[in-house]
Amino acid sequence: RTSVNVGLLGFGTVGTGVVRIISAHQEDLVKQTGMGVNIHKILVRDRDKPRSVPGMEHLVTDRAEEILQDPAIDVVIEVMGGIHPAKEYICAALEQGKHVVTANKDLMALYGAEILTLAKERGSDVFYEASVAGGVPILRALEESFSSDRITKIMGIVNGTTNYILSKMSQDGASYETVLKEAQALGFAEADPSSDVDGIDAARKMTILSTLGFRVPVTLEEVDVKGIRGVTQDDIAFGKKLGYEIKLMGLAQRDDDKIEVSVEPTMVHHSHPLASVNGVFNAVYVYGEAVGETMFYGPGAGELPTATSVVSDLVMVVKNMKLHVNGQGMVAPYKEKRMKEETE
Ligand code: NAP
Ligand code: HSE
Repeated sequence: RTSVNVGLLGFGTVGTGVVRIISAHQEDLVKQTGMGVNIHKILVRDRDKPRSVPGMEHLVTDRAEEILQDPAIDVVIEVMGGIHPAKEYICAALEQGKHVVTANKDLMALYGAEILTLAKERGSDVFYEASVAGGVPILRALEESFSSDRITKIMGIVNGTTNYILSKMSQDGASYETVLKEAQALGFAEADPSSDVDGIDAARKMTILSTLGFRVPVTLEEVDVKGIRGVTQDDIAFGKKLGYEIKLMGLAQRDDDKIEVSVEPTMVHHSHPLASVNGVFNAVYVYGEAVGETMFYGPGAGELPTATSVVSDLVMVVKNMKLHVNGQGMVAPYKEKRMKEETE
């Protein structure tokens, strides 16, 4: 066979980027995998909504079963967001023997163990690089590049919307409400932006980062969360006077068996590299016992950066298909959780 068939669940900010990248980089995708990538069908809520990628109207459906039950579709890319029905759709796709790529941190933070275990049982891949820090390849780094080390601390700015808001409030003196609207218009914010500004989105990402980084299950309930609603222009100006920027900071630390994870507005001194991470950019510090200090930096949200991670996951799936090694990745820490739960 010469091509792989993809069913896309969602044609919003990220889905549009996925279609654009697959179309623009087709030649390169074939070079890397030996197979073309064909978008077979796209699920949306409203079929009549105008789309910014022309010529795709004939692929659009509002009936999920046209993708989930179609034996011609090899890979389902879930970029619709939310927990339900995204979870049911992903599980149905896996039951049908399809592979899954998702950008959905809400889902992976809550149901990662269940989804990855089902995938393993079915011999299917589930990859979710885009779920944390958009275009920054941090999950694969934690899973693979640091496999030889023991990570003790992960610290980072992992929500683009709040970093955009805080940066604009600090640099331009703009009001919270105005900048939040800008972030929504730019497609960075979640459908319900309260999960961004209340720190929940960052907490979900810290759950995923600490589970993969520390290789033990960390749950959302274990994360202490405080958002940025209470941060005022006066707080920002006061911090600046003393040489600090206010950032919504995720912090995960482990000390022997004790793991602490938090998300809260934090004063960061101008001398620290995280103080100059501005706009929609994200940065994740990873401290390993052997490697010492490393930092991953890049666009944390937005159409093309996020879609880059999604399509890279798709390339991994296709390479695995060629080698017949699907169903091996990113399961270990979640599996450990399942086994622990089963013995309780
Ligand atoms: P979005 O712009 O709101 O797009 C969502 C898409 O899914 C729309 O096309 C919508 O259809 C469709 N959809 C939603 N619910 C549906 C349902 N029940 N049935 C059928 N179709 C449905 O969202 P997004 O910003 O692309 O985000 C998608 C996912 O990526 C989310 O999990 C988000 O957290 C994650 N993510 C986003 C970013 C980012 O920068 N935006 C970055 C990283 C991760 P209609 O078009 O008909 O409304
Ligand atoms: N709403 C999220 C953010 C999208 O602003 O970071 C990327 O996960």
